[in-house]
Amino acid sequence: MIIAIDGPAASGKGTIAKQIASVYGLHHLDTGLIYRAVAKALLDAGRSPENAEAALAAAIALDPAKFGEPALKTQKVTEAASVVAAIPEVRQALMNYQRAFATKSPGAVLDGRDIGTVIAPGADVKLFVVATPQVRAARRVLELRARGEDADENAVLADLLRRDERDSRRSAAPLKAAPDAHLLDTTHLSIDAAFRAAVDIIEAARTGRKRR
Ligand code: C5P
Repeated sequence: MIIAIDGPAASGKGTIAKQIASVYGLHHLDTGLIYRAVAKALLDAGRSPENAEAALAAAIALDPAKFGEPALKTQKVTEAASVVAAIPEVRQALMNYQRAFATKSPGAVLDGRDIGTVIAPGADVKLFVVATPQVRAARRVLELRARGEDADENAVLADLLRRDERDSRRSAAPLKAAPDAHLLDTTHLSIDAAFRAAVDIIEAARTGRKRR
């Protein structure tokens, strides 16, 4: 079984994906980490994230063993990740890794921006997770502060909106819902309620029954 979970930053898709993978006993890949790892490699080497040639080389040299590095979550890397993610050659170079992951046995949950549209268009279930920008910014602020980082709510909101815009407007695999994706709005949902809503969608899709 392949479950594709897409949506904008801080919509709750990562948390849902992790929980779904754990409950269903599936592998999980946070595909944002891939673009973050490429971005960090460029920044570490003193290269611009807009440098397509250097970005492609970093994508080819991707090392999944480094996906756990806390430094991948910094604001600088976050911003640079959305810049490298707009380079079509970079996305192309990272496709095989993601598609191979998706077909791991007994199944996988992948979360990102283009899983249901490009990486796994044949996924068994597709979720598109959204929430208002204000709620997403508030969640991100809590997350950053929990990690001991300074976080100004207005600045975080502006960063999110800029990233949404870049991710949605790029020509290569833009952020958008697949036509057969199920929309899940987490604006007014707790983590637990969002997870239960996701399970309901998945179970309905698997058994062909109507959603509650
Ligand atoms: O999901 P996360 O916020 O970690 O992703 C960081 C950046 O990586 C996003 O802003 C987006 O530009 C890019 N990304 C992407 N396609 C994916 C996952 C992430 O373009 N499937």
